[in-house]
Amino acid sequence: MQRPQLYWFGKAPDEQQVALVQEHKLELRVHANGQPPDFQHACAALFWATEGHFAPAAVCLRDHVKNALDDGVYVVAVVSAAEDDERLKNVSKLFDGVDPSNARKSHHRVLSAPVDLHQLLHQVLVHAPGVARNTALTIAGDVQVPKEGRFLLQRAFHDCTSVSLEPIAPGFSGADTFIVKATLKDSFAGPEPRPFFAKVGGSAELQKEMQAFSSFAEHHVPWYLRPNFVAERTTYGVEHGILVGTFVQNSCSLAEAVRTPNGARHIKSLFEETLAGLRQQKRATATASEQRSVVSALKDFCKREKVPPQRWKDATAKFGGELVDADTLWWRLLDLPKREWRCSAIHGDLHGENVRVRKEDAIVIDFAHASTGPACADLAHLEVSLVFDTSKGDQQGDDWRRVVDGLYESDAISASLTPGAPVQGSTWIHEAVAEIRALVPASVVDADEYKRVLAVYLLRQASYPASKKFPEHDEYRRTFAYWLACRLTESLQAEASSTVAVQ
Ligand SMILES: Nc1ncnc2c1ncn2[C@@H]1O[C@H](COP(=O)(O)OP(=O)(O)O)[C@@H](O)[C@H]1O
Ligand SMILES: [Mg+2]
Repeated sequence: MQRPQLYWFGKAPDEQQVALVQEHKLELRVHANGQPPDFQHACAALFWATEGHFAPAAVCLRDHVKNALDDGVYVVAVVSAAEDDERLKNVSKLFDGVDPSNARKSHHRVLSAPVDLHQLLHQVLVHAPGVARNTALTIAGDVQVPKEGRFLLQRAFHDCTSVSLEPIAPGFSGADTFIVKATLKDSFAGPEPRPFFAKVGGSAELQKEMQAFSSFAEHHVPWYLRPNFVAERTTYGVEHGILVGTFVQNSCSLAEAVRTPNGARHIKSLFEETLAGLRQQKRATATASEQRSVVSALKDFCKREKVPPQRWKDATAKFGGELVDADTLWWRLLDLPKREWRCSAIHGDLHGENVRVRKEDAIVIDFAHASTGPACADLAHLEVSLVFDTSKGDQQGDDWRRVVDGLYESDAISASLTPGAPVQGSTWIHEAVAEIRALVPASVVDADEYKRVLAVYLLRQASYPASKKFPEHDEYRRTFAYWLACRLTESLQAEASSTVAVQ
């Protein structure tokens, strides 16, 4: 057993308890006040806050529970109290305070005395605390690593002598991502493994991401076209966690690839090879009689309340027309007559930076938002994010607007969804949009469905603050996205009322 220590706080163990711990092959560490516990080789920490010992045990729990949980330790507090007792509530509050998002919920519990120690020790033995932290690990690189991050790296790279971290431009989730060059302590194949990819972020969020990855990607996307996480290096603390995977070398983002000659072909391979297995799941149609319209099915993906009010006012001033506020726009979209729509498993965050292109392979990463939803949502999301992306600093203002304006006219959208429709221009934007729209008919019941979903994603584009890289340029595009969302919604309303009139 790599981590045999059992820490004991509060009421001291009696002879029988000591013997029972030894019988279970655990090393008892009775905590002496004033000495900070070191949980590196511990698997569990028991806080005996029973009658007459509540205060010292509760103090120790308050002071050490975070370190214990961050180290993978199983923490149990034993309180002799009725359910409504203030002491029990205080101990529960301590756990809630240190683990508010329940990231380590299965790693801590409160028990009411008397407790069957034999049974408790069995729970301790089935708990997997993970490998012991490697405190000798050297962490190099141009990054500040706080204590908690050091803990995580020491656990994730327990078998290494050193790691060197190189930050990667972050994605949109707020997590920090790195290329990790490690030196292995003891390897028959040599000390230098291939570089790793590591993502350090909120523990609960990363656990959700891994859950979504195993449900939607692991068995539905070919292993060479998705991330490959290294389970034994992936580690969670109470606040933060670390996901470790293999780094996709010599790749560029899809956003870069589509700007190269004939780059739009990668979009086809993304949908027809990488995501084909995922997208054919649950290919049912949601009928008109169902409660949810295709718009309301996208409510979690579009936070219209985040559209800055100034943006819709600017959209009117800059591009003309009488626009409505984001609430009204959203309600108008919800109000369109119900129609059938196609449902499938979706990636849920398919933008140009979440696809890495290596030679002819389109490798999809970041499955944090995978779910089931409108089958054309990934297509619309990718289309809007590529067309409105300013991160590469190309074409400014009005030149870009002229290209994009025509692409989002309702009739132009219908025409582009007709099989064999010619590409309307020669820019990479025309080619990428044509490639995406050629894939749309197989994912929708009719063209109207794609227009509704596009309107939602245009609105979504307008709901984010301008990027820091090119703030003015980005604000301009997001403002135009809002204007286009309004125009497209107006057309959808007009088309819906003329259909009703004909009937
Ligand atoms: N396995 C990988 N190989 C190479 N680069 C990667 C890998 N995973 C992520 N990246 C890079 O790190 C960035 C952020 O990672 P991602 O998982 O998308 O985080 P976020 O959730 O913050 O968007 C990506 O846009 C990509 O450039
Ligand atoms: Mg990402």
